Amino acid sequence: MFVLGVMGSPNKKGLTTRLLARALEGAKAAGAEVQQVDLIDYAIQPWPRSVHDRDETLDRLSAEADAIVLASPVFYKDVTGLMRDYIDYLHNVADVSRVGGKSGFGISLAGGSGMGQVVALQSMYGFYFFRGYRPIDPIAVSRFNYDDALDTCYQRGREVLTAAASPQPFVGLADKVTYYSGLQYLDYDLVDELLLVVEQMMSSAEVDAEVLGECREQFCEAREAVLAGRRQDAIAAAAAVYDRLFHRRRPS
Ligand SMILES: Cc1cc2nc3c(=O)[nH]c(=O)nc-3n(C[C@H](O)[C@H](O)[C@H](O)COP(=O)(O)O)c2cc1C
Repeated sequence: MFVLGVMGSPNKKGLTTRLLARALEGAKAAGAEVQQVDLIDYAIQPWPRSVHDRDETLDRLSAEADAIVLASPVFYKDVTGLMRDYIDYLHNVADVSRVGGKSGFGISLAGGSGMGQVVALQSMYGFYFFRGYRPIDPIAVSRFNYDDALDTCYQRGREVLTAAASPQPFVGLADKVTYYSGLQYLDYDLVDELLLVVEQMMSSAEVDAEVLGECREQFCEAREAVLAGRRQDAIAAAAAVYDRLFHRRRPS
């Protein structure tokens, strides 16, 4: 089994590359052959018009992969332009989806405010959806859950190999939509994402027990407000915790 890791950060020494490296280490430990491509090394034409606009290596690796792991930092609440161009570039590579139900998963890193980690994953899973992949759950990362996410990446790298070993094509649109709607984060909206970021913050904030207790209480109010359909109250409560904890992260 061959697992391809696609790096969408222009920065080869940043935080995203460490996450992808851990995912590929997991896949390798489980027995996969792995390779990483750094998209910054390729002159990608988002809509290649002729064979001269294509990169033979990138086409071949993308088509041969039994699973593709997409990793991107969040730039303005979405994947980077590099990752977007790669996804669009693959549009003409039929072999990428010749085998239905191939596996993969996405990793997003919102290294600033933390906002956008979910939207970026939803963009990546648009690729998997339309190319007939059956990806496993994505990994949403911010500065606030980074260390835990490294372990999750390793574990999911192992899991993707199991999924890649037995590709399961979808039998129709209903099957596909049912599967995708069960994947983590794909049904999140902006308010859900705010609550996710706040939850990540609370797990790593360096504050005393009393402050943390107050934050947890306010967070529970936010969650209850979401359930009760009071979105504005949820936003106010979650944002208050966010503002309180933003600069209180435990150094990693
Ligand atoms: C153009 C640009 C836009 C960014 N937009 C966001 C954003 O919407 N949300 C966020 O949390 N971080 C944002 N960031 C911060 C990056 O996600 C963060 O620097 C990340 O660590 C970069 O990945 P790297 O460490 O792999 O280079 C942005 C950074 C840049 C350069």
